[in-house]
Amino acid sequence: MGFIKTISSLKQKLSEEKSHGRNIGLVPTMGALHAGHLELVRRSIIENDRTVVSIFVNPIQFNKKEDLSKYPRDLVSDLEKLKSVGCDYVFAPETNEMYPEPDLTQFEFGQLDKVMEGKFRPGHFSGVAIVVKKLFEVIEPAQAYFGEKDFQQLAVINKLVEIEKIPIKIIPCKTVREEDGLAMSSRNVRLTKSERAIAPQIYHTLINIKKRIVRSNVSELIRSSINLLNNNDGLTVEYLEIVDAKTLIPIETPNKTNEIIACIAVNLGNVRLIDNLKLS
Ligand code: PAF
Repeated sequence: MGFIKTISSLKQKLSEEKSHGRNIGLVPTMGALHAGHLELVRRSIIENDRTVVSIFVNPIQFNKKEDLSKYPRDLVSDLEKLKSVGCDYVFAPETNEMYPEPDLTQFEFGQLDKVMEGKFRPGHFSGVAIVVKKLFEVIEPAQAYFGEKDFQQLAVINKLVEIEKIPIKIIPCKTVREEDGLAMSSRNVRLTKSERAIAPQIYHTLINIKKRIVRSNVSELIRSSINLLNNNDGLTVEYLEIVDAKTLIPIETPNKTNEIIACIAVNLGNVRLIDNLKLS
């Protein structure tokens, strides 16, 4: 497995690969890899000639310094995991390699980056879009793989590719869950034992919403679900919204034609967790 830290060496390696007619799959990550990431990598390996995994904790997508400094990092173990699944290249640049100078690009994503995560983490999606666009430009993959746990991120990236006319196929991959339903996330390692025991309630709440959505009043269902979750020690719901899966606009009543999705963010102790579930 190749370990590359600079854009110039990565470009050189990949141009060699491409000169042999090989196509590239990209799995962008911020490291602290778990089984969910490895699923994306396995899929990319099956569907492409070569797979590049990027590991870069992108500072400009964190709106709180504390969140950035606490973000888990474990490069040695990440490299072992990637080697074990057969990844071809790991690209792990330093911050000044990615941002030799501040990148002030602005994107217009309409409603997509203003609601939910966008409302609570100002600047987050602009930071994500800047780094993903940079990775796309450097690597020029045929396909790039993103997890559906970050559903809004996926919507923003699909929009990015559309507005910038980037010829890369975005492959959404299903959320991988622990046995008790908790969505896998790099942040889970920061949960205490008691918080970890509470955390599956997030998914159970989403399942419950799915069961009840057809015969319930949507705002009442949201209100009662938030109240139930907030009864757990140390857990505070930041938002719980039921939205149209394409526009991310909250729905008042479900209809049979549009796909809808429940999206949630909670703070559990000092850890912020998100999850979602398609309801239709
Ligand atoms: O989902 C993530 O891990 C990050 O937001 C991404 C896509 C790697 C960009 O930094």
